[in-house]
Amino acid sequence: MPDLQPRELDDGCPDSAPNQLQELQHDGSILSIAVSDEYIFAGTSKGEIAVWSLGSYQLVQTIQAHKRSVLCLHLTSDNKYLLSSACEPIINVWCPKTFARLYEIYSTYDVGDVFSVVYSPQRDTVYFGTQTQYIQWVSLKDPARRVSQDSANHPDKRQHRFFDSRAVGGTSTPRRTEEHYALIPRAQAVLEVDSGAVLQYAHYGWVFCMRIARGPSVLVDPEEEVLVSGGGDGTIKLWKLSDEGTEYGDGERVTGDIQELMVLGEDDSESVMSLEVDGSFLYAGKLRGIIELWDIDTKQKLRVIKAHDGNVNTLKMSFGLLWSAATGGSASKHSTVHYGRDSNGTSPTVSQKYQCLNRWKAHDAKILSSAVAVHQNDQLFMTGANDNTVRVWRVNGMQTPAEDGVEASDNMMLKSLEDFVSYKTISSRPEFTEDCRKGATFLGSLFKRLGAQVEMLSTGGLHNPIVFAKFSGKLPAEERKRILFYGHYDVVPADTKAGNWQTDPFKLKGQDGYLYGRGVSDNKGPIIAALYAVSDLLQDRELDSDILFVIEGEEESGSRGFQDTIRRNKGLIGHVDYVLLANSYWLDDDVPCLTYGLRGVLHATVCIDSKHPDLHSGVDGSNMLSEPLTDLTLLLSKLKDRKNHVNIPGFYDGILSVTQEEELRYDEIASLLILRNPSNGPVEALKRSLMARWREPNLTIHRYNVSGPDGSLISSHATANVSIRLVPGQDVEDVINSMREFLRSEFAEFESENTLTIRIDNKAEPWLGVPGNYIFRTLEAAVMKAWASPSTEENRNGNAAAAALGKGRKPLYIREGGSIPPIRILEKEFNAPAAHLPCGQASDGGHLHNERLRYLNLTKSREIFKTVFSKL
Ligand code: BES
Ligand code: MN
Repeated sequence: MPDLQPRELDDGCPDSAPNQLQELQHDGSILSIAVSDEYIFAGTSKGEIAVWSLGSYQLVQTIQAHKRSVLCLHLTSDNKYLLSSACEPIINVWCPKTFARLYEIYSTYDVGDVFSVVYSPQRDTVYFGTQTQYIQWVSLKDPARRVSQDSANHPDKRQHRFFDSRAVGGTSTPRRTEEHYALIPRAQAVLEVDSGAVLQYAHYGWVFCMRIARGPSVLVDPEEEVLVSGGGDGTIKLWKLSDEGTEYGDGERVTGDIQELMVLGEDDSESVMSLEVDGSFLYAGKLRGIIELWDIDTKQKLRVIKAHDGNVNTLKMSFGLLWSAATGGSASKHSTVHYGRDSNGTSPTVSQKYQCLNRWKAHDAKILSSAVAVHQNDQLFMTGANDNTVRVWRVNGMQTPAEDGVEASDNMMLKSLEDFVSYKTISSRPEFTEDCRKGATFLGSLFKRLGAQVEMLSTGGLHNPIVFAKFSGKLPAEERKRILFYGHYDVVPADTKAGNWQTDPFKLKGQDGYLYGRGVSDNKGPIIAALYAVSDLLQDRELDSDILFVIEGEEESGSRGFQDTIRRNKGLIGHVDYVLLANSYWLDDDVPCLTYGLRGVLHATVCIDSKHPDLHSGVDGSNMLSEPLTDLTLLLSKLKDRKNHVNIPGFYDGILSVTQEEELRYDEIASLLILRNPSNGPVEALKRSLMARWREPNLTIHRYNVSGPDGSLISSHATANVSIRLVPGQDVEDVINSMREFLRSEFAEFESENTLTIRIDNKAEPWLGVPGNYIFRTLEAAVMKAWASPSTEENRNGNAAAAALGKGRKPLYIREGGSIPPIRILEKEFNAPAAHLPCGQASDGGHLHNERLRYLNLTKSREIFKTVFSKL
C-alpha cells in the first residue's frame, strides 16, 4: 500500500525560485488567470479582466467584465472563447482576440457565486459549477436558448419577491447601481440557461473546480470528453456528457445532460479547491497544503503530500510537470506520474515520480490563481495573488533540457542583462573600482561564451579597462566589412538613501513590460541587445562581417584614457568601416528615432585658494580679507548673464546658422510631437526648445566645494564644477583657451590676494552624422522593419492617427543635447562614419532613479542590430 500519511513540509524539497521575468500589477486581487498565445488575462476582485500582451507584458486593456469578483477564467482548448464567471449569476463568453463580449449567459436559478466554468468543444457547451451546489450548462449553438437583450428573466430585471413587488401604478425600490456596472460591454447575444439544464446537489457543497478531460477512464471512449468536478464536500466526480436531455412536460427535451460516472473520495473530507487530470491520474489540491494523487481507473488514492502551507487553490499540469500554489504564498513544482510513461499500465514508481522538485516563496500574499504558457521557447508559470500582482516565472528546461541552440532565447539575453546589471560599475567613485573590474571581467567572459575573441585593454593608471571583443564573419577577409560597436559598461551612481528607488537598482526587476535597474538603458541593455544580435547571426550561420565591440568603463567620467588606449591598440582593432552606438533615447515613448547629432562638452573645475588656512568668520573676517568663496562666486557670475548668454568672448562666433533643410526637420519633429501629445505645443516654442538643446551651446554651474567643517568659517579653498555643452562650429580647444583667458582677466580685476586655477577635467567634441549616408539608410530600413506592425493597442483604442504616426513610418532623425566623447574620437581615428541608434524611450530616466528600459525596446533593438549587422 502506498504511504498515505501527509508528508511534512521539511520534505527536503529544494527552496529555489525560478527567474521572475515580470510582475504585472493591477488594482485588485488576482483571482483567476488564463493565457492565450497573445495575451495574459487576469480576473480581479473588482470584476475586471486585465489584459497584458504576452511577451511585451504591457497592459493592453482592462475590461469591466462583471459586477463583482471574477472567480474563474477559462480559455477553451480550441482558443475560440474566453469564459468568465464571477460572484454573480452571469457567465460571459469573450473573444480572446478582439475582447468582444460574445455571449452573456444567465441562470434563472439562485446560483450564488459561480466558482468554475468550462467548455466542451465536442458539444459547444458551457458547464458551470455554483455555490448553491449545482452544475448547470448551456449550449452556445442552441437557438432556443437565445433571448432578447432585455429579457424579463434577466437577473438584473428580476424583481425581488418582497422589496420590488409593485402595486398597480406604484414604483419599485430603486436598485443599487454602481458606476462601473455601466462599463460592462453589451453582449452580442444573450443566452438563458434552460431551467431543466441543471443538476442539483452535484456536490454536497460548493462546486469549486471543474475540468474537461478526454477519455480519463476506461468507462468512456478514449477521445470522449468527460466533465470532472471538485466540491466543498471533498469529493471529485466524473460526469458523462450527452447532448440528449430528459424529457419534460409537453414532450420538450432539456438540451443536454450529465450523468455521474464515478465518485472519488468521501463526502466528509476536506474541500477540493483545484484539480488537474493527467491521463488517467488526477491531482486534487485541498485545504492545508494537501495535494492528493488519484488513479481514476482503480479509484485509488495513490499518494497524499503536504506541498504547502495554506490552501492549494490552483494546480496546473504542463511541461511534464505539476505546478501548484497556495494561500501561504508558496509555489512549487512536482514531477508527475503519467507524463512520459509508456502508454499502458500505471507506473510502479509513483513515489519517485510524484516528488516536489522545487518550492519557492512566490508572493508575500495569498496565491489564488495560476496559469502556464509557452512563449518563444520559454516555459512560463504565472501566479496571481491578493497582493494585486501577477508574477511571471520562467521555468525553462526544468524537466527536459532545452535543445542545443534554442537556449539563446530572449531569456538567456535577459539573464545576461540581469547579471550585467548586478555589477556596480560606477566609474566616478573610487570605492567601486573593484566592482568595475569584476563587471569588465564578467562582460569579457560573456563575449567569450558567445563566440568572440576577447582582450582587456588597459587604460593605464587607475582607469577601468576597455573590453575589446571580436566576432569574425564568414566571408573571406578581404570581403568582410568591419563594424565597430561602441558602448560603455560603467554607470552613474544610484542613490537609494532618499528612498527614490522602488527596487534595488542593481537587481534587474521586470515590471509591467519594463526592466528596471541602474544602467539598464544607459548603456548595458543596448550592449546586450547588440551582443545577442551577433549571437543570433552566428547561430543562423549568417554572420558575414566582423563585429568589433569596444566597451569602455569610463564614459560617465568623461572617457578617461579612451583616446590613448584606442591609439595604442589600433593595430589590434584594425581597419573599421562603420561605427555604431546605441546610447540615447527616443523623443517620446512611441516614435522610433535615429540620432545624428550630439553636443560636445567640456568639464572644468575652477579653484580659488587663499594663502591663509581656514579662518573663523567672526574672529578673523573683515573687509580687509579676500574670501575664496566670495571671489569664486563673483568670478562665476561673470560667465553668464541673466538671460543665460555666455560672456566668454568669441563663444558664439563659429556656430553654424540654421539651414532651410534643418528648419524643416525641426518643423516636422515639433508638429509630430504635438500631434501625439498636444501639451507639447505650441510648435514655435517646442521648436525653440529643441534647437536650444540640440544646436545651441550652454553653460552649467554644477556644484561648489569648500574646505573645512560647517560653521562660522571662511574656507581657505573653494572650487566649482562648471560644464559647457558645445555645438558644431565651436572648437573645444578654442573655447577652453578663451574661457581661461576670460576668467583670468576678470579675476585680475578683483585685485584679490587669492589665487585662481582652472583645471579641464574632460572634453568631447560635438558630433554631427550624415542622415542620408549608407549606415543611416541601413539603420532606417532595419528600424522600419522591426517596428513595422502598428501596435495592436493603438489600433484597438481606435487611435489610428497614433498608430499610423508611431509605427511603420520612417524613424525621426533627431539630435541630442547629451555628449558621448568617443564617437568623434572613433570617427577620426578610424576615418569611418558613425551612426547612433537610440534604443530607449524618453521616459527611461537614464541617470535618474528608477532607470528603466522597455522589454519590447530591448527585443526590437536586438532585431534591428541583427538586420544592420547583416546588411551593412
Ligand atoms: N548616453 C549619455 C549621453 C546622452 C544622453 C546622449 C542623452 C544622448 C541623450 C552618456 O552616457 C552620458 O551620460 N554622457 C555624459 C558624458 C560626459 C560625462 C562627458 C553627458 O552627456 O553628460
Ligand atoms: Mn550616461
